[in-house]
Amino acid sequence: MTVHFIGAGPGAPDLLTLRGRDLIHACPVCLYAGSLVPEAVLAHCPEGAKIVNTAPMDLDQIIAEIRAAHAQGLDVARLHSGDLSVWSAMGEQMRRLKALGIPVSVTPGVPSFAAAAAALGTELTLPGVAQSVVLTRTSGRASSMPKGETLANFAATGATLAIHLSVQSLARVVEELSPAYGAECPVAVVYRASWPDEQIIRGTLSDIESRLGAEIRRTALILVGPALAGEGFDESCLYAVDYDRRYRPQSADSPWSGWTPEKA
Ligand SMILES: C[S@@+](CC[C@H](N)C(=O)[O-])C[C@H]1O[C@@H](n2cnc3c(N)ncnc32)[C@H](O)[C@@H]1O
Repeated sequence: MTVHFIGAGPGAPDLLTLRGRDLIHACPVCLYAGSLVPEAVLAHCPEGAKIVNTAPMDLDQIIAEIRAAHAQGLDVARLHSGDLSVWSAMGEQMRRLKALGIPVSVTPGVPSFAAAAAALGTELTLPGVAQSVVLTRTSGRASSMPKGETLANFAATGATLAIHLSVQSLARVVEELSPAYGAECPVAVVYRASWPDEQIIRGTLSDIESRLGAEIRRTALILVGPALAGEGFDESCLYAVDYDRRYRPQSADSPWSGWTPEKA
């Protein structure tokens, strides 16, 4: 018996990995975080599967459900939205399961920041502009931020910020970022990326608050940084005509001359 943690993706049911789909289909028990996991993903459960929405449950209840499956030798598909490596609460469940000697596996999913970037048609790292993406959030009712992980500190790097769980605090985000990025820094808010009711609101730090409708209070990402302008960037060396590299040696003297993937 194994508990398979599976990233269910950002919303569109076809943004689930094939491995995730096959595991869901193979598990007679499915626990899913109902607040964000799309119901359509549950269609992959086998007929007769026990399907439990864990949104109203606490950690003890979730672990009790898994222990009951374990006692019967039934594999469990444990679904969380997006990818499991960020804000999935997988860590605390795994710690309990390891203590109980219950085996686990992890299957990644498409994270919401990637779905939001896709919706914008934007590369978040542009040569000469930004080469880092910071996945972060602001403090909420349930989670405080560790000292040092402030938006102002991240903004000082000039990186692209993907700010989760914070659209309800947009005013605070703008206030903290404006000194480093400047009022004209581009911002995009992507609401429910990849869902049928997806919305994109673009603006700058100076006007994004007035552009955002009052109805958008959750399930949105705030992307901020100069890279969002999508202009003023260099071309990468990778595809430059004269760039000497393993796959495209430029002369007989190149260290890569004669190299083939088979020789690697
Ligand atoms: C609990 S976190 C889950 C993050 C998830 N594990 C991931 O990989 O993206 C929920 C937050 O992720 C963001 N989020 C999740 N799905 C989203 C989507 N489809 N569109 C925009 N933001 C989304 C929002 O900021 C939301 O408040």
